[in-house]
Amino acid sequence: MAPIDGAEVSKHNTKKSCWIVLESKVYDITSFLGQHPGGAAILLKQAGSDATTEFKKYHQLEYVNDLPARSDLGPVDPNTLAQLRVPKDTEAKPASETDSDNKIPHVSMVISAPDFETVAKAVLPHKAWIYASSSANTGLSLRTNLDSWPRIQLRPRVLRDVADVDTRRTILGHSSQYPFYLSPMGTLGVIHPEAEPEMVRGAVRKGAHMVVSTASTKSTEQIMQSYLDEQKRLGNASPSKLFFQFYMPVDKKKGLALLGIAKRAGYKGLWITVDTPVLGKRSADRLQQAEEALAVGMEDSTAEWEAGGENAFAPAMGGRVATGQLSPHTTWEDLAWLRKEWNGPIVLKGIQSAEDAKLAMEYECQGILLSNHGGRQQHSAPSALMTLLEIRTYYPEVMGKLEIFLDGGLRDGADVLKALCLGATAVGVGRPYLYALAAYGVQGIERCTDILSEELAIGMRLLGVTSLDQLRPEMVNATSLLNEMWRPEPSTIRSRL
Ligand SMILES: Cc1cc2nc3c(=O)[nH]c(=O)nc-3n(C[C@H](O)[C@H](O)[C@H](O)COP(=O)(O)O)c2cc1C
Repeated sequence: MAPIDGAEVSKHNTKKSCWIVLESKVYDITSFLGQHPGGAAILLKQAGSDATTEFKKYHQLEYVNDLPARSDLGPVDPNTLAQLRVPKDTEAKPASETDSDNKIPHVSMVISAPDFETVAKAVLPHKAWIYASSSANTGLSLRTNLDSWPRIQLRPRVLRDVADVDTRRTILGHSSQYPFYLSPMGTLGVIHPEAEPEMVRGAVRKGAHMVVSTASTKSTEQIMQSYLDEQKRLGNASPSKLFFQFYMPVDKKKGLALLGIAKRAGYKGLWITVDTPVLGKRSADRLQQAEEALAVGMEDSTAEWEAGGENAFAPAMGGRVATGQLSPHTTWEDLAWLRKEWNGPIVLKGIQSAEDAKLAMEYECQGILLSNHGGRQQHSAPSALMTLLEIRTYYPEVMGKLEIFLDGGLRDGADVLKALCLGATAVGVGRPYLYALAAYGVQGIERCTDILSEELAIGMRLLGVTSLDQLRPEMVNATSLLNEMWRPEPSTIRSRL
């Protein structure tokens, strides 16, 4: 195919004819505009231009293969690149609104995990900020998460020798320096140019475990390679391990292929996300996408959300949640073939009731993660602490049988103790790490770990314990949450007897 002139490409910058350049090749994506999970507007913004950099923030390059047949028009003439259209970057903040490097506080001035949020907000492009910070509907579930931790108080004991404390904890058979780990979060390419590998490097340096998202910007294998490289650099001395978070796609064959990749790459456990039969209503993302659509003259950006049903989606940063990527058909029975295929520990991520915790035990899972997805899925969802209290009350037999993890809203190392007193194995930390990555890259990941770990160690000493196995339910006062805990309707009680 003869090279295509950059000036020619630049003319195809409308809804009627939309071309883009990806890795020096020209693609006609006109027929794909209506199918793009992130909406057409985000593509139209790049029309007639070289979209490679923008594309790579969201997708692995092989996603190009998902474009309709015959979209590939051939190479762009390298001598004419200057004639390509330069997209108006509506995303970047005006210089006056952006903190320049010297306004970003030195990382040593970040004293508490929530401080990362302030810095991240200043440095992230608006759209990336919306992606990271957004939550479902009115934000109620996110607020519930944040508000739940302070509602439990610690009950310190004094006059015990607490000079030496040990914060180590074994998670799914793998010892970690901490009873917390880095939660899986997708599309980190929009948060930091090095994406997931940068986060992995920080986790390895600090000996923390991390769960890697299916929806990562970099491939499952690339992320594992970055882990292995960092381990090698450190003489394989870090206890850090990588687990794999799995989104069940509609197409079982695709699911099997993905499991195979994760297994061969050496991930240590499978965390199946079960709270996403569909994507929640991400209000801020929707507003942002509507603004983006209006900016390129489109008024119908909401039509696809309103369609509802299994094909409905909310934009997850340019569409990592495409039709078919999340299966609404998955049931408990699917765990049988998943287990056979994975042949290793399985954790269900997104358990929000005592009944489902008990089912997970009956279906012989190794762990459950009590989570409402950081307040991004169900509106008016319970906090993880509330679900933990429910399990303790109604199905105490689950405690001790399964490893129990919690996440959502945890922002202080001392709070980890509350979950552990109530029987949790460990807790997951999401946004604080994401904001730390945005603000300081690998240094931020290390700093965030140090902050949480120091708060945890101080908390243990002030509580009067020296190791995590000394934590007991009577070391917390959970009365405030217990008073609001779900009670079965009388009819339900009868049917259970
Ligand atoms: C930006 C962002 C992306 C996320 N992506 C995923 C994902 O790909 N898979 C998943 O199972 N959970 C995902 N989560 C949920 C987290 O794993 C975790 O449950 C949640 O962030 C914990 O709450 P926290 O952010 O308040 O700590 C994401 C959360 C955020 C904030």
